[in-house]
Amino acid sequence: MQSHDLRLDEQSLITPALVKRHGKTTHEIDDGMLRQKIAELALVLELARQGFANHQPAAKVVEQLAGKLHVLRHQSGNDIWQKLIPLAQAHPVSEYLLQDPFTKWSFEKPRGYSGDASLLDIYYKHPAANDFIASCTELGREIYAYTSDAASSVAGRERRDILARIVDETAARKEKAEVLAVACGHLRESEKSEALKAGTLGRWVTLDQDPTSVEIVRAANAGTAVQPVIGNVAGLMRRSYELGTFDLVYASGLYDYLPRAVAIRLTQRLMELVKDGGEFLFANFSDEITTDGYMETFMDWPLILRSGADMWDIVNAAVDRNKVEVDVFYGENRNIVYSRVRKKAA
Ligand SMILES: C[S@@+](CC[C@H](N)C(=O)[O-])C[C@H]1O[C@@H](n2cnc3c(N)ncnc32)[C@H](O)[C@@H]1O
Repeated sequence: MQSHDLRLDEQSLITPALVKRHGKTTHEIDDGMLRQKIAELALVLELARQGFANHQPAAKVVEQLAGKLHVLRHQSGNDIWQKLIPLAQAHPVSEYLLQDPFTKWSFEKPRGYSGDASLLDIYYKHPAANDFIASCTELGREIYAYTSDAASSVAGRERRDILARIVDETAARKEKAEVLAVACGHLRESEKSEALKAGTLGRWVTLDQDPTSVEIVRAANAGTAVQPVIGNVAGLMRRSYELGTFDLVYASGLYDYLPRAVAIRLTQRLMELVKDGGEFLFANFSDEITTDGYMETFMDWPLILRSGADMWDIVNAAVDRNKVEVDVFYGENRNIVYSRVRKKAA
């Protein structure tokens, strides 16, 4: 195993700037190419603006826009794409798009950072988001009909269900199983867990850096095996928390913000918290998603997308393969990829 350079910001919040740096290259930008891509972007955005102004079906307008931004992102290369993002965000079409509750929350970041748990409630279609969605315009709700059912949102809801299923499988194979959720957000998978309802889990420690989310988890799961903890990735690395060991450790919606070196170090650390015979699971949005261009521009929500090979790469660099069994698999629509690492019994 190698040692890796770690670059977390001081509060250990993963910032959009950090994620953007991940994809940075040092190539000189070709001015002609840049001008061409700016012109293509302007055309794509103007067509969408006209679609809204002419009252075309909003979901269709956004679907086409997202598809074209995906192609433009891939054809531009990262350096040029980074220059296109602020231009898209400043375009008048954003006045329409920001009426969508999902786009608006993501762009405005009321909790102060990207990808907070209330944003996930919006695409989970969780009742906690109902009032906010109802407060948006009719056009906003029409756009939401597309954004909340885009393949990446469907995959996010499936991820929540997969997590609940794996927690339940752990409870079925191990009496009084101990589970750790890292970056738990609002722990919405707990609402789908039969084992939690049946009271068969030993403990479900749920850690997040956001005290508001931790409080929501505490209130929603009072009197159950759930044990919320305020904590962050840097604290985990520094071994600041006395957590013990677990039959299942998992992280969902976190690795998408972690550059490779940090992902490897965190995997090494979390594997230390897994008991022999236990397992660690992490999920990542895959590089096959087609909403990437829309997310990075109008949602200001950059993610580090990974392939199955990238997931293997993290595991191979982090663990001794003789001591584990690894399964890398995709969700149904391949928008999220999972890595499941089982520690062989000693
Ligand atoms: C996209 S949400 C995922 C929430 C939940 N795991 C899920 O799948 O619904 C990301 C969560 O990561 C948390 N987070 C971000 N950076 C973190 C860090 N450095 N340490 C701990 N939690 C972090 C955020 O507070 C947020 O709740």
